[in-house]
Amino acid sequence: MAQEATQLVFGDGNPDADIVFIGEAPGKNEDEQGKPFVGAAGKFLNEMLALIGLGREDVYITNIVKYRPPNNRDPLPEEKAAFLPFLQAQLEIIKPKLVVTLGRHSMDSLLPDLQISKCHGQPKRYKGQVYLPLFHPAAALYNGGLRQTLIDDFERIPKILAAIN
Ligand code: URA
Repeated sequence: MAQEATQLVFGDGNPDADIVFIGEAPGKNEDEQGKPFVGAAGKFLNEMLALIGLGREDVYITNIVKYRPPNNRDPLPEEKAAFLPFLQAQLEIIKPKLVVTLGRHSMDSLLPDLQISKCHGQPKRYKGQVYLPLFHPAAALYNGGLRQTLIDDFERIPKILAAIN
């Protein structure tokens, strides 16, 4: 997959952030610009951050898989597994209070046995880290019901963060 990508998309934002957002994999725009979430899903993510008074410079944003999968296919299990140690190292350095997983791929890589339809918006503590599973902004972008659900879940972030000690 590295051979077919333009560049590695490592992450973006504040390495001292309290919140880290983790998506799935770079798409076309991300592959071109070398930054995560800079296309339509990224614009929506930026809008939701603004709703809670945050900008991209206040948080850290990355993906499970750091190369664009050819033709935007789903990342393969072995690709997710290969990148996991790098994601874990990023989290170890940043030490966020809250890890927000965006979509099923991100959630499945970090948290065992959850269903996004049931657990979205509910914080989970796992091995000492607090996680918040959310729907993926790309999935919610053009689906009215899901879009509002994601916005409602997102707006809970400040309270969830404040409750973490
Ligand atoms: N979708 C993702 O999961 N990650 C990106 O960086 C962009 C879109």
